[in-house]
Amino acid sequence: TESSDGLPVSTSDLGMISEAAALLRSGETVAFPTETVYGLGADARNTAAVEAVFAAKGRPSDNPLIVHIARREDLDRLVTEVHPVAEALIYAFWPGPLTLVLPVRPGVLSPLVTAGLDTVGVRMPDHPVALALLRAADCPVAAPSANRSGRPSPTLAAHVLEDLAGYIGGVLDGGAAGVGLESTVVQVQPDGTVAVLRPGGITAEQLAAVTGTEAAAAEPAAGADTPAGASGGGSVPVPPAAVPGGGEAGAAAQAAAGNSPAPRAPGMKYTHYAPRGALGIVRGSSAQRVAETAAGLLQAAQRAGEITGLLLFEEHRALYPADPAACTVSLGSLSSPEEAARFLYAALRRFDEAGATYILAEACPVTGLGAAIMNRLMKAAGESVIDAG
Ligand code: TXA
Ligand code: MG
Repeated sequence: TESSDGLPVSTSDLGMISEAAALLRSGETVAFPTETVYGLGADARNTAAVEAVFAAKGRPSDNPLIVHIARREDLDRLVTEVHPVAEALIYAFWPGPLTLVLPVRPGVLSPLVTAGLDTVGVRMPDHPVALALLRAADCPVAAPSANRSGRPSPTLAAHVLEDLAGYIGGVLDGGAAGVGLESTVVQVQPDGTVAVLRPGGITAEQLAAVTGTEAAAAEPAAGADTPAGASGGGSVPVPPAAVPGGGEAGAAAQAAAGNSPAPRAPGMKYTHYAPRGALGIVRGSSAQRVAETAAGLLQAAQRAGEITGLLLFEEHRALYPADPAACTVSLGSLSSPEEAARFLYAALRRFDEAGATYILAEACPVTGLGAAIMNRLMKAAGESVIDAG
């Protein structure tokens, strides 16, 4: 997979899109923009190509991929049955950030795509470059987010290159992804109820408006984002001790004591979307309490030799002392969760650029897009939550 390695191409250039389509058809991997995040695409019928996607991402093979299509008709070649409620959701939200898990038609897709399940996740992205690429390739395209497994998903072509340059056939540059978080993954049960396997760009409220019922947050199916064995609750961390010459040693001691804001040792806990530093989420009964607690923890961490990071909402900035952390990033206004969603992954990557080792993030309300934002933050933090009371 050495060809046009890592060279971003102009989206306005239809020639580039057909070149990318040709790469896909020849079994190469190509990263492309969608309205949610950048995906790393491969011909979903071609096992070697799909294998290359898993290899480039370092993704565990038991986590199935989403298949992308450009036309509603393409769906019938991939699945055996579409429940009327699923049909209604497709009508309402395609093209768009909604993935439906449906019974897969045997023998059409590489079994690697579905990780051996008898279902397949399918969506139609709402992005002109993605749709043009899918039409030109004229094949179902399996595409997970185009990041190294465990890292924040890419919302810019530059993020794709950060993670995957040298491992993929190429990347189509379509500028910044619009939604900024992945699609909502749902499965319609035989009785017509909708199980949300992963919250995302289509909110529970939007789903309910179509189905007339409340969508239920489901325990993820086998292979879904939270793998079996991932810890649920997690311990409630306490302020880090100001260990002289702290840094890694101090963090290791805290981790051993079970009160680090986030795990350090690889494999201690399985995280997704994670920055390199330890991340904890601070929540509490008021913004004031959250800010006081976070500011205190950051100060102690700084004394202990950590490089600190803080992810906050603009309204709360004034509740903190000046320069509360070495790297402070705002997700914008609490009243604009769309903006926070769009910027979340880039924000997490910014902490890496700053070399942050100890990061705290303010929680946000879990209504609307806030549900998906908190879902991603919780996974990035390995469920590490600090309760400010
Ligand atoms: O917005 C998105 O969905 C992006 C863009 C590129 O389209 N793609 C994406 O793919 O987020 P990925 O592979 O990072 O996430 C796929 C999610 C995982 O949580 C996976 O477990 C779930 O969908 N999934 C896929 N097929 C499934 C199936 N048959 N049953 C249950 N969950 C499935
Ligand atoms: Mg992903």
